[in-house]
Amino acid sequence: MNEPRLFMASARRSFDEQAGSFDQRAGLPASVCDLIAKELVQLAQLAPGDVVLEVGAGTGQIGLALCQLPLCYVGFDASAMMLDVFKRRRAKNAPPISLIATDGNNRWPADDGSVNAVFSSRAIHLLRVEHVVEEVFRVASPSGATLVLGRPEREKQSLRALLRQEMRERLWQLGYASDDGQQKEREILEACVRRGANPLERRVVATWPVQYSAAQILTSWREKSSLAGLELEAEVKEKVLSQLTIWAKDVFGSLEAFQSAEEKYMLEGVRLSSKS
Ligand SMILES: C[S@@+](CC[C@H](N)C(=O)[O-])C[C@H]1O[C@@H](n2cnc3c(N)ncnc32)[C@H](O)[C@@H]1O
Repeated sequence: MNEPRLFMASARRSFDEQAGSFDQRAGLPASVCDLIAKELVQLAQLAPGDVVLEVGAGTGQIGLALCQLPLCYVGFDASAMMLDVFKRRRAKNAPPISLIATDGNNRWPADDGSVNAVFSSRAIHLLRVEHVVEEVFRVASPSGATLVLGRPEREKQSLRALLRQEMRERLWQLGYASDDGQQKEREILEACVRRGANPLERRVVATWPVQYSAAQILTSWREKSSLAGLELEAEVKEKVLSQLTIWAKDVFGSLEAFQSAEEKYMLEGVRLSSKS
């Protein structure tokens, strides 16, 4: 098992390295980001001026949409370079917002009881479960607050999902266990419920069509420094990708053939009730 501090250093390095290409490789459609922001306001019952704290804000794909709503937005991320992309994509005359480079495994940049909604998309599973739960309850407003977690989901039989599953299998065979993000999110939400929070119904915010070839996916994985969230030695990574290339040719007939699929973005969360 990685030591948290070491993992943090490598996670930050990995996202620093991919900051410039993240949106192109893992971007969400802009219309989907607007829908996520609006749905978050509804789900968390936010009123104008309420404070939203985004954990792992990244390049600001969703943060940018949240900043356009009448909310008090604070985003933090371990990677200063991901936040630099966020800052650059904001309009020059946009009002200032708080974007803070800090490790979410340390104290979050918010006072006790000051936050109305904690939001995180594709990031919270990279943090320690117990720490997340402690921090959510610490920063939650005494008048009630909501934790909302978001992630894209792929059809189980889609080319990307099958390739990913095979990659995890190959990594496992080589002795590397990759984190299951969804499982970690579930653990966080369940731990909050055990502390008295009420679960919110999972909802689909948007669905959109995608088209990928195995070659495209393998190239994008080659361009990142990590694989399935793991920092691997170059030869291990190359071995897995070469095996996957052979496997994909065999299973899909060609690396270049495009396959259509549908992706959806899910939100789920818990409501921390008022302390009065
Ligand atoms: C997959 S990206 C998601 C970015 C953004 N939330 C989105 O959905 O587009 C994960 C983000 O989590 C950040 N991250 C990883 N570990 C972190 C930590 N310990 N503390 C804060 N941020 C972290 C990374 O730097 C990266 O920006």
